[in-house]
Amino acid sequence: MKPVIRRMQEEDLDFVLRIEQRVFPDPWQRTSFQFEIHANRFSYPVVLDLEGEIIGYAVAWEIFEEFHIANIAIHPDYQKQGWGTYLMQHLIDRAEKMGSHYILLEVRPSNKAAMALYNKFGFFPHGVRKRYYRDGEDAIVMRKNLQTQV
Ligand SMILES: CC(C)(COP(=O)(O)OP(=O)(O)OC[C@H]1O[C@@H](n2cnc3c(N)ncnc32)[C@H](O)[C@@H]1OP(=O)(O)O)[C@@H](O)C(=O)NCCC(=O)NCCS
Repeated sequence: MKPVIRRMQEEDLDFVLRIEQRVFPDPWQRTSFQFEIHANRFSYPVVLDLEGEIIGYAVAWEIFEEFHIANIAIHPDYQKQGWGTYLMQHLIDRAEKMGSHYILLEVRPSNKAAMALYNKFGFFPHGVRKRYYRDGEDAIVMRKNLQTQV
């Protein structure tokens, strides 16, 4: 079975938070996801729904020419099976459809899995945000230019 990618809803948040708390040292709180679902008009929050089980999710911000991937995760039991690739391809398709010029995201240089995913899609290092993460690690800003860029 293939998961469906659909908009994140309030009812998904128990599942989403369970994944979030397992995969990130500094997880987003429920209120952050609620803001994305209900209040942030620039937000595109989605889940990977496998017959009612949420196996991954992403939150992107569509900020005029920029498509910013703020959060992306796959449930640990479902990692390394191509679902991160599937979700990323969906986000790139969405960004192109929205006429975004480029995609940006922040990543820990120590995050080998995420780096592998982004490199595979042609993201390149675009800058460093010093001590971006709560534990003091820098963030690498990764960028991918889209065909719609002028
Ligand atoms: C990053 C993440 C979303 C990737 O999801 P995934 O479903 O495992 O990704 P895929 O199975 O599609 O793999 C994508 C590529 O990365 C590679 N990869 C995946 N995990 C890897 C690891 N731990 N080390 C090295 N390469 C890895 C895969 O081999 C694949 O490359 P290939 O297609 O050339 O073989 C997932 O590891 C995750 O949720 N991590 C925790 C949350 C996180 O760090 N999010 C990103 C924050 S910036």
